Amino acid sequence: MERTSKRQDHNHYLQHILNDMEQGVIAADLSGKILWMNHYALKVFNLDKKTAIGKRFEQIFPNIPEELNLIPDKLLKGITERNKPFRWNVNGKPMDFLRDTYKLNDETGRQIGAFILFREAVHLFNIDEKIQRADRLAMIGQMAAGTAHEIRNPLTAIRGFLQMIGSSLEEKGLERERGYIDLMLTEVMRINNLVDQFLLLGKPRNIQYRILDLNQVLEEIIPMVESEATLHSIEITNRRLSSLPKIIADPELIKQLFLNLIKNAIEAIGEEGNIEIDYDINREEQKLMVSIRDSGPGIPPYIIDRIFDPFYTTKENGTGLGLSVCQRIVQDIGGSIRVSSKGFGTTFQVSLPFLHSSLI
Ligand SMILES: Nc1ncnc2c1ncn2[C@@H]1O[C@H](COP(=O)(O)OP(=O)(O)O)[C@@H](O)[C@H]1O
Ligand SMILES: [Mg+2]
Repeated sequence: MERTSKRQDHNHYLQHILNDMEQGVIAADLSGKILWMNHYALKVFNLDKKTAIGKRFEQIFPNIPEELNLIPDKLLKGITERNKPFRWNVNGKPMDFLRDTYKLNDETGRQIGAFILFREAVHLFNIDEKIQRADRLAMIGQMAAGTAHEIRNPLTAIRGFLQMIGSSLEEKGLERERGYIDLMLTEVMRINNLVDQFLLLGKPRNIQYRILDLNQVLEEIIPMVESEATLHSIEITNRRLSSLPKIIADPELIKQLFLNLIKNAIEAIGEEGNIEIDYDINREEQKLMVSIRDSGPGIPPYIIDRIFDPFYTTKENGTGLGLSVCQRIVQDIGGSIRVSSKGFGTTFQVSLPFLHSSLI
């Protein structure tokens, strides 16, 4: 007597647990008739216990395709499945699920039916995508570190010899041939530039963190891009603040970061326009914000999510690595990059943690 009541208690708990689960549970007997369904399963199939219990799945849903029949005959013959996807309209909205099916055995191991567990698959798919993305990035990093140096060394030799050949062709007055050499040199430089970006993505060299004044950094960079800008009638305005809090970063990488952003702005504008560099200090969050705003055509909403992906480019000669490198550089020092582009023009805002003045 006592034994039965304990058993009833157990059953009671078990039912509670099964009912509270965010997973569907269905048990069926050997003829495929439903013995039990938990709340989640009833909700998904929009059933109540009375209509479901004692019926076969295809009795409740006549003409149901075989892959949607959760209690197919083969299951009753002992064939089990894991992570089998299926889609079902729940309140008019298609939802993706994964199901596992198990044999239901009695104490002696004889099959007396089957049970099915299913859960929503959205989260799993999302995680999967993220893992794939992280894998891809890690792989690119490894590739970069491994091959970039091997490419750069022979390139340096090729460039040196091309320059020598170029000068001797010039001495001989072979202007046309000399022109070819110049073309080859430009192409070699392009490969060199690609390799440089690759190396930055792979983070291979020793990073040297220094205390930096961004005003100084920008003042060094702007002359590097100014001639290119003037050539295309683009005006660069640096709205510098007289004193900026210091940041900790590798000076070369920080230069690369702003060079990439300003170059993108120049390339987006094409001809005639302006680029404004603005600073802002957020003392509460201890962040120094630099925004680079251009008067270019803006970034269409359907590509804005992809511009930070390695190799994503809309330019004929682009590498698609510039922004991934920027993101890498900024994330490594605890900062972030945001982009906003509404209709006309684009703003990239870099926010970097600054040093409290008492620490310097
Ligand atoms: N300031 C900008 N205005 C408009 N589009 C931009 C801007 N900056 C970046 N993009 C877009 O993002 C893409 C990726 O940029 P990036 O990673 O630097 O690679 P790349 O410059 O080689 O194309 C560009 O091809 C372009 O479509
Ligand atoms: Mg670029």
